[in-house]
Amino acid sequence: MQTENMHVVSHKAIAKDTYELVLIGAMVSQMAPGQFVHVKVPSEAMLLRRPLSIAAISQDETTCTLIYRVDGAGTKALATLNEGAAVNVFGPLGSGFPLEAPSSGEALLIGGGIGVPPLYELGRRLRADGVKVTTVLGFATAEAVFYESEFAELGQVYVTTEDGSHGTKGFVTHAIEMHALNVEDIYMCGPRRMMQVVEGLYPKARGYASLEERMGCGIGACLACVCDRQEKGAGYAKVCSDGPVFPLGEVVL
Ligand code: FES
Repeated sequence: MQTENMHVVSHKAIAKDTYELVLIGAMVSQMAPGQFVHVKVPSEAMLLRRPLSIAAISQDETTCTLIYRVDGAGTKALATLNEGAAVNVFGPLGSGFPLEAPSSGEALLIGGGIGVPPLYELGRRLRADGVKVTTVLGFATAEAVFYESEFAELGQVYVTTEDGSHGTKGFVTHAIEMHALNVEDIYMCGPRRMMQVVEGLYPKARGYASLEERMGCGIGACLACVCDRQEKGAGYAKVCSDGPVFPLGEVVL
């Protein structure tokens, strides 16, 4: 990991309160799907960095795509960054998704809300490796939906919205059941509740869950991000440095 002043190649809103930020810099050569970076907010008043997940990586262009939701003063300040601006980035951080092709030859990606981005680069890598990729994306409402067409380039995509304003009304599990999707090998990221329900409904599924957690240091020093391990007496895991990606069954979702 390193700190680098990367530069903004493009920056735009892609859904309600959701922005896509493309940065260029040497750090890209170290990035892997599922990792995240800690980005310094362009404001002297805000010292804490913001953890942003990596949605896409282009080694050829040395660019990475970060997607974030504006949900406070820090991300609001980030949203003001213009093309060409320098952004201080610390990373890449955490452990990403293992990239071996799943034994079934099929991968079911399950993303909820702002948990969707890290699944995109993973899906691209799996698809390039010949894996059949199917994606289920869950959002609150049509205005929040993003990257549906990007995932459609990788394989079949099913979108659900809680209010039924786009795709299937309900939650990701409704689409999984409705379309009888193969849940042998799953990769998921999204709200804890969503992942708990999926894990509970499909206890035999193999795969990985990427946790979203409030973070402080991002490097395992402050314990702001701990979660319990499932094994009794095994203590806790640090989402930022032991994760954010964990094999299913390793930590309490
Ligand atoms: Fe500090 Fe994880 S954010 S230990």
